Amino acid sequence: MQNIVLVGFMGTGKTSVGKLLASELKMTFLDMDDVIKERAGKPISRIFAEDGETYFRSLERTLVKDLSCKKGLVIATGGGIVLNPDNISDFTKTGLVVCLLATSETILKRVSGDTNRPLLSGDDKMKKILNLMESRRHLYEAIPHKIDTTNLSLDNVVNQVIKLFT
Ligand code: S3P
Repeated sequence: MQNIVLVGFMGTGKTSVGKLLASELKMTFLDMDDVIKERAGKPISRIFAEDGETYFRSLERTLVKDLSCKKGLVIATGGGIVLNPDNISDFTKTGLVVCLLATSETILKRVSGDTNRPLLSGDDKMKKILNLMESRRHLYEAIPHKIDTTNLSLDNVVNQVIKLFT
């Protein structure tokens, strides 16, 4: 069985959608940030602060290589997975890659109060969201399967992914 790989900006619902999707389809759910955290022995925010973003991206890359050899997984990726095109081409070989979208306002609501997203930490989260979204827009746009989650319930998003998969 193929993997289902959820990509998309922070706060687009990859983890919530992935968990429900995996339980509906009786597949195994895996959150890449959780695995990276476990492998590094520290939270994502500390990896960024102590080792830098480039090191975090190398951990992400290694994990993509490991996971794209497996089967039957629902994988919630980190929002920056699209930065390396090799990640998307590896995942596409063994899985259905679906990009979740949401408006910047919705994303702000979903991530406000969150302290474990180093790229959005500090003041003026909206400005950071808009800048990052703009710089990555073409990368998310390039994924053939996209679902805008802004006005959809969790069940609705999950059903749309299931339709794409079956
Ligand atoms: C990142 C998104 C985060 C996490 C890291 C970097 C990004 O994952 O991987 O903070 O570059 O967009 P989520 O999308 O699950 O928040």
